[in-house]
Amino acid sequence: MKTNPFAERLDAMKKTLSRKKLDAIEIRGEANIRALTGIECDNAILLVTPSGVLFHTDFRYIPMVHREAPWLKVKDIKKISYKAEKIGYETSLTVAQFKKMQKRHPRAKFVDILADVDKLRMVKTPEEIAALKAAEELNDEIWCRARAMFAPGMTEREMARKIQHLMIDMGEGEAFDTIVCVGRNAAECHHVPDDTVWHGTEPVLVDMGVKLNGYCSDMTRNIVPAEAGAKYRQVYEDVLGANMAAIAAAKPGIKAFELDKVARDYLKERGWGKEFGHSLGHGVGVQIHEMPFVAEKRKDVLKPGMVHTIEPGVYIENELGVRIEDMVVITEDGCEVLSHSEK
Ligand code: GLY
Ligand code: MN
Repeated sequence: MKTNPFAERLDAMKKTLSRKKLDAIEIRGEANIRALTGIECDNAILLVTPSGVLFHTDFRYIPMVHREAPWLKVKDIKKISYKAEKIGYETSLTVAQFKKMQKRHPRAKFVDILADVDKLRMVKTPEEIAALKAAEELNDEIWCRARAMFAPGMTEREMARKIQHLMIDMGEGEAFDTIVCVGRNAAECHHVPDDTVWHGTEPVLVDMGVKLNGYCSDMTRNIVPAEAGAKYRQVYEDVLGANMAAIAAAKPGIKAFELDKVARDYLKERGWGKEFGHSLGHGVGVQIHEMPFVAEKRKDVLKPGMVHTIEPGVYIENELGVRIEDMVVITEDGCEVLSHSEK
């Protein structure tokens, strides 16, 4: 029988149960179900009680759970039943889901445990790190092939479509909506590709991530044509400098906000304080945005096995935008960059 690669996370959940003096924890979030069991399922409740862990789902998915996670005890979700006075739940539930749970347990007290579950996913297992590396490697390959297909006269939408087709052919599609920005459109950091034509003389910003084996990838690169002006080139140099400074500083023990500050200060010193309006990065896993969030005020300490992005950017409205994004895994003494495309 296969061994359970998520046993440590389930044990940690049992510890949360006793630490918070709960009688039960219900986990329903798809990403959390995936991270605690390996099962991808949109109708499941993982019930953790002092007597053990019980996976609930419906008829459609029971054979898959038997096959994928033979260590799990499985029960029909319609027959979920347990006694509890204090129940831990994820506040990301829909109101309808919460009301249904309340109806089952009208006298129970409900306690928010969302952060406890989300935190379990911050440090990736060796299998997850391998999956994330493979996803980002494929992302590199797709960027290389798409880049070779881009030609003057194409619109942003057409360029995005090339990437999307490759992602479907070679992986499991997009981890998020592909961003392609020609020229000044890059000043909007999440610009939606439209009919703007690339003449081959404007810079192009591409932010893309393919999904593979259920894991996401994320990378941003810029095409810099010979015609790019002096100001654009200066911004590019500065953003690249901030990206490299943060990569050099990413190591175990540094707090998320401290790493964010490395890039933020670098850009501030060069006159781009206001122009870097988003956070430095975010964790990547079964979701494209997950903990740790590398942002001002986030106190999470970086640890080996955490995978996150480093993506400083400078945006000048109606003029230009540059973002350079890599995915990294924190190692014992620094970080390994998982994105290998040329910067
Ligand atoms: N690369 C898209 C994002 O991080 O929002
Ligand atoms: Mn990102």
